[in-house]
Amino acid sequence: MRVLLTGAGGQLAVDLVEAFADTVLTAVPRTELDVTDEAAVSTVVRAVAPDVVLNTAGLTDVDACEHDPEAAHAVHALGPWWLATACRDVGARLVTFSTDHVFGGAVPAGAADTGYGEADAPAPVNRYGRSKAAGEALVRETLAAHHLVRTSWFMGVHGSGFATAILAQAAAGTPLDVVDDQVGSPTSTRDLAQAVRRLVAARRFGTIHLANSGSCSRFALAEALLEDGGHDTPVRAVPTSAAPGGARRPAFSPLDTTHAASLGLGLPPWREAVARFVDDLVDTGRHTRGRA
Ligand SMILES: NC(=O)c1ccc[n+]([C@@H]2O[C@H](COP(=O)([O-])OP(=O)(O)OC[C@H]3O[C@@H](n4cnc5c(N)ncnc54)[C@H](OP(=O)(O)O)[C@@H]3O)[C@@H](O)[C@H]2O)c1
Repeated sequence: MRVLLTGAGGQLAVDLVEAFADTVLTAVPRTELDVTDEAAVSTVVRAVAPDVVLNTAGLTDVDACEHDPEAAHAVHALGPWWLATACRDVGARLVTFSTDHVFGGAVPAGAADTGYGEADAPAPVNRYGRSKAAGEALVRETLAAHHLVRTSWFMGVHGSGFATAILAQAAAGTPLDVVDDQVGSPTSTRDLAQAVRRLVAARRFGTIHLANSGSCSRFALAEALLEDGGHDTPVRAVPTSAAPGGARRPAFSPLDTTHAASLGLGLPPWREAVARFVDDLVDTGRHTRGRA
């Protein structure tokens, strides 16, 4: 199987390269393929002639997207559209990544217990989420052979984000204030990459939620990270309103992963994923465990 991966070098991309090691994989960074360039996308897809395209290109700074919605739209809506069009032209499949930020504006009946399902209508509360929802619609309209993967709250050994920031602050002995009124689904990018490999093998097209199972607040996630990292740094639960400014975040955006589990594509529980994520960070020398 020939695979083309965009956004090479990103945290999910690095884990996907490992998970797709059994394929003939061409991984291109932004410097070699800007997914917002329609002609370049067509040229590269034709040249590589892949069976599958993995599109990990994204602007993950939610606040920056709020200030530059045109850039967010270009990368999250137009990029996947150009890729879907090019895939259609060469008979390839497209895997592209969306987000829990397509939700949060309205919680449908039932979602309060299980989280959002694949069929729930997007209701984004920020421009990052709106640009991703637009990309979802364009991919669905353009290419039947799509795997549209909604996922959330990455914990990646090869990147930076909430989880690595919490551990870095704890290692520095900085007391932490963490919001306890945002609830979502943490996701190990390593677990996700392996699930995507299985999804591609299973050829199950359409929209699918892939996240570690279960959900928690940012505060509970920070507590788990500190526990597994061996830190006794004080952590205080604060409301989102304590740190005003920036893009609005969904207060409640867990992804219901029942569908993935029913296909044998489910990820392990989030609490187990935290433990393995911290172990991996320590093993790769990116974190030193505390003594607590
Ligand atoms: N992080 C999360 O918690 C999260 C949650 C849900 C969904 N997702 C989605 O999952 C995907 C991967 O996220 P990630 O956390 O792995 O992101 P990441 O580490 O920030 O990597 C994103 C990659 O995309 C590249 N890129 C940006 N604009 C591009 C463009 N116009 N053309 C080609 N490449 C471009 C970046 O290149 P440069 O480094 O050169 O800018 C970077 O290599 C994204 O679509 C993201 O929206 C992420």
